[in-house]
Amino acid sequence: MCGIVGYIGDKPVVDILIDGLHQLEYRGYDSAGVAVQCGEKINVYKAEGKLENLSSVLMQHKDEYSASTLGIGHIRWATHGAPTVVNAHPHTCNCGNLVIVHNGIIENFKELRVKLEKLGAKFKTQTDTEVVAHLIAYKYADTQNLTKAVQLAVKEIEGAYALCVMHNNDKNTLVCTKRNAPLLVGIGNNEFYVASDVPAIIKYTKKAVYLNDNQIVTLSREKMVLIDENGNELQPKIETLPWEPVALSKMGYKHFMLKEIHEQPDVIRNILVGKLHTTEEPIVLNEVKLTRETLKNLTRIQIIACGTSLHAAMIGKYIIENFCGIAVDVEASSEYIYRKTVTDANTLVIGVSQSGETADTLTAIKQAKAKGSHVLIITNRPDSAMAREADSLVPVSAGIEVSVAATKSYIAQLVSFYLLAMYMAEIKGSLESSVLKSLKTDLTQIPQKIEQMLSHKEKIQQCAKIYANTKDFIYIARGINYPTALEGALKLKEISYINATGYPAGELKHGPIAMLDESMPVLSILMKGSVYEKLLSNSEEAKARNARMIALTNSKDEKLKDLFDFIIEVPDIQELLSPIIAMVPLQLLAYYIAEYLGKDVDQPRNLAKSVTVE
Ligand code: M6R
Repeated sequence: MCGIVGYIGDKPVVDILIDGLHQLEYRGYDSAGVAVQCGEKINVYKAEGKLENLSSVLMQHKDEYSASTLGIGHIRWATHGAPTVVNAHPHTCNCGNLVIVHNGIIENFKELRVKLEKLGAKFKTQTDTEVVAHLIAYKYADTQNLTKAVQLAVKEIEGAYALCVMHNNDKNTLVCTKRNAPLLVGIGNNEFYVASDVPAIIKYTKKAVYLNDNQIVTLSREKMVLIDENGNELQPKIETLPWEPVALSKMGYKHFMLKEIHEQPDVIRNILVGKLHTTEEPIVLNEVKLTRETLKNLTRIQIIACGTSLHAAMIGKYIIENFCGIAVDVEASSEYIYRKTVTDANTLVIGVSQSGETADTLTAIKQAKAKGSHVLIITNRPDSAMAREADSLVPVSAGIEVSVAATKSYIAQLVSFYLLAMYMAEIKGSLESSVLKSLKTDLTQIPQKIEQMLSHKEKIQQCAKIYANTKDFIYIARGINYPTALEGALKLKEISYINATGYPAGELKHGPIAMLDESMPVLSILMKGSVYEKLLSNSEEAKARNARMIALTNSKDEKLKDLFDFIIEVPDIQELLSPIIAMVPLQLLAYYIAEYLGKDVDQPRNLAKSVTVE
């Protein structure tokens, strides 16, 4: 979490920093700050809350920094210490000459703080970051060399970090380093840009160097010097960023989330181009390097992910087991990494992540790789840290997703799982060709069906109005749509703050049914297929406890009208593909409830889009 931007060159620095931070708002938005070289001193400006608050602070000091061309900036998602002005970055040493911004968590900050206090460091904040400022300052006092000071300081730090450091004595220097947190350096004409992510710099340059863990880069206006942790000079690997600058525009929609929901039909079409040609031809996944031999020897598959990606993974499990007959385990990355996980060369490990930089998932796949597993990554960011670790890659191509609540990236992950499972089934010969053919045909028809739903949103808006003023919400489903219930509930809770929970409907009577009464909405994801009748019975059980029953269904069954108070109809689709169709109205329902309640839909409280701390 948190976004870092830095610049050294000849352009007005504050505009570049604020513009870059704006592009990184998805990484956190609870406070922000910049430090800029203003003549003989470094000025620090900070504000609590959204970036616009920092812009207002800066407006009042324009004369102080207008000539400045060197600086660093930060947008924060608080880990240690409340999101106050004091705790906002940049942080400084005692005298204010050394200034840093940091992304990550310093795990041994308490020990370091005690040690530094004994040396005379005066702490002003509750953050873990401030210890780094003092530590580097002490090393600088000994060495009078900023690069050396950073090199010595990071040897004493445990945890994850991306750091950008400046010192008032070195008015032509920025020093940056990282470990388990992303950082790249953009290259311009006698100028360098530093950022946590590409969108912050792509407007200015397409040439960049991605820093590897423990590398330290020293930037002056004239040159870049890259060293490893022992001070050995390295040749920077300059890459061309495969990105076009995109204006982050809502295109007339009230929120990015609504726009992104509406982009879903085209996202699916884009993914299918070049991968699914005709129903007769095999699926093409150019970056998947699984051979017939590897697939034959696979004893199992493990899928690891977090949040919405975890729900996509759960559906992935269902599809892969069904299409390929290989046992699949799904696990939250944060659980996978802290136990004695059994993984070996005959296990395929699939990591799923929109951002490709979620810390838990990144650590998990590194662990799996170290144990010899083939690691396949499904991500929306083919340039991400996870993609760089991958033996095989399935890019989900959803385009930039701005809203913190994942929508189009989830649908894109599902489509990617269908393609991957069909691809593996074709190699293994585990699925009848008539089944494959019908899956391919129906998959290509889904964009149109989503468009149909999107053009009839009134019913969902009506539903949102009726149920918005509830404290709790239950989603039930069975089989392949159980993860849809989880994802529907997650969408609602993260943007409306309503306590929503998804259950496998068969579990209701083992405890949760105790919560049902006339105030509780229960939404049943009732898609035709193998578990339809069973789910109908579970819905009857909920109705008998007076719950407020809502159906999301592709069935035209007349008797549903007696059972449900509200029915959301969706286009017909075969059961195996139904999670894609069922999810879209649930995204809209969550959106309209949150919008009706006046919530900050795109930037819900306490969240960040990229979770780069474990
Ligand atoms: O970038 P990732 O897919 O790895 O992110 C995982 C979760 O943090 C993410 O899905 C989160 O749950 C979203 N807020 C869901 O809308």
